Amino acid sequence: MAYKTVLKYSDVTPRADYLNRRQLMGGAAGLTAGLTLGPALGASSDASPYSADLETTALEDISSYNNFYEFGTGKTDPAKHAHQLTIDPWSVEIGGMVDRPGTYGLEDILGKVTLEERIYRFRCVETWSMVVPWVGFELNQLLSLAGVQGAAKYVAFETLYRPDEMPGQKTVSLEWPYREGLRLDEAMHPLTILATGIYDDPMPKQNGAPLRLVVPWKYGYKSIKSIVRVTLTDKEPQTTWNMLQPSEYGFYSNVNPQVSHPRWSQAYEKPIGGGLFAKRQETLMFNGYEEEVARLYDGMDLVVNH
Ligand code: MTE
Repeated sequence: MAYKTVLKYSDVTPRADYLNRRQLMGGAAGLTAGLTLGPALGASSDASPYSADLETTALEDISSYNNFYEFGTGKTDPAKHAHQLTIDPWSVEIGGMVDRPGTYGLEDILGKVTLEERIYRFRCVETWSMVVPWVGFELNQLLSLAGVQGAAKYVAFETLYRPDEMPGQKTVSLEWPYREGLRLDEAMHPLTILATGIYDDPMPKQNGAPLRLVVPWKYGYKSIKSIVRVTLTDKEPQTTWNMLQPSEYGFYSNVNPQVSHPRWSQAYEKPIGGGLFAKRQETLMFNGYEEEVARLYDGMDLVVNH
């Protein structure tokens, strides 16, 4: 089966649960109208304890206001230009400190992992936010396929470099390819997923098709899109925004209302999709995931390690 088909959430969820969810969500009409209530936790057997019971942002908003500099620096550039990207076939090269390095075809990967829905808060460093019903699988499942060696301490990620299809890469807005990294314990955390879809749809190209990282307690720029390379290493990897401006964008980039960006406060955020008069809301420590992730940073100075 081609992965485009596998990606549909209805294909990976037992039909009874799926219908049950749809009913809970007020039917398909509610889905297309956006701003639906997420599935009630515990109501269906596959609801993840990591999925939040929050009102989700409309797909139209999630997929029309984007940061994806490979397609331009404007918020509407990705939706305009990302259709040029070829995403089939797709493979991910996994290397470095792993037992089974190699080129992993996306279809093979998807045959070996468990896809599920995760409703997560998503907070951009620019102070906008949204709630996204991702479909994806835990990154730790991919890392287990490759077999992480004992000496590995970090995971580095790279986006595809293909200037013919990504017009932004013909400019020097960023250093290409886009790069990101996580400490190994962050990468293994069950909240960290590789997403392949949003709602019951394959990932829109402007959101990072066919495979993008989602780390919900960190600023959005850590969630690298359209990944083609994953490397296990014992050195802290270089990351795109940190390379550009280290004083403004640290390696950790944990959402923290108390640590201001040098040019603006991070105490508040504004949900997208609400128009000009959307109410700002207080930013939550670790974007609301404090209970799950604070222990990863015990004893660390979160100002120095911003
Ligand atoms: N990944 C790549 N390859 N290129 C980018 O420009 N932008 C990042 C991140 N991942 C970016 C990227 C930033 S700044 C944010 S806020 C999120 O993607 C935006 O994700 P979204 O467009 O799906 O909301």
